[in-house]
Amino acid sequence: MFGQGRLGQAMALLLFLGMTAALARGCLQCDPNFAEKFSFYRHHVNLKSWWVGDIPVSGMLLSDWIQNTMKELHLAIPAEITRKKLYQVAEAVYQRMDQLYQGKMYFPGYFPNELRAIFREQVRLIQNAIIESRIDCQRHCGIYQYETISCSNCTDSHVICFGYYCKNTWHKQDEKMR
Ligand SMILES: *[C@@H]1O[C@H](CO)[C@@H](O)[C@H](O)[C@H]1NC(C)=O
Repeated sequence: MFGQGRLGQAMALLLFLGMTAALARGCLQCDPNFAEKFSFYRHHVNLKSWWVGDIPVSGMLLSDWIQNTMKELHLAIPAEITRKKLYQVAEAVYQRMDQLYQGKMYFPGYFPNELRAIFREQVRLIQNAIIESRIDCQRHCGIYQYETISCSNCTDSHVICFGYYCKNTWHKQDEKMR
C-alpha cells in the first residue's frame, strides 16, 4: 500500500512536471511564421560550423528556444504581449537568424555563440515589449485595458491596468465646470 502510494505520488509529480513543461511556452511560438522559420533553422545547423561539436549544441539551443525563453523572462507581471509587438520581435529575430544562416561555415564556437546572442536579444525585446505596453496602459486615467495574446498558450487575452495619470483630466473637468 505504502509503496503504491509513493509510486502514485511520483507519477503525479511526473505528470505535473510534464504539464508545466508543456505549458512553458515563450511568446515567439505565437508568431504565425515561427514553426516554418525554426524548422528551417533546425534542419540547416549541420553545415554551419567547421567543428562537429558545435552541431548538437546549436541544435539544442534551437529546439529548447521557446522553453528557455520562458525561463529567462523573469517577469513579475504575466507574459501577455500585444500582437503588433510580438510580430515586431519575431521579425527582428528572423532577420538576425537569416543573416547568420547566409554565412557558409563558421569557425569553431562562433555559430552557437551567435545563436546565444540572438536568444538574449530576443529575451530583452520581449521583456521590453511586455513592460512598455503595461507602462503605456498606466498612462491613462482609471481602469484601462488592451488586447494581448498569452505567451503561454497563444490565446487572445487582455490586460487590465489602473492608470495613474488623472491630473490633466481633472484639470479639464474643472475648467469645463467653471
Ligand atoms: C492561456 O493562458 C492564460 C495565462 O496563462 C490563462 O489565463 C488562460 O486561461 C489560458 N487559456 C486557455 C484556453 O488555456
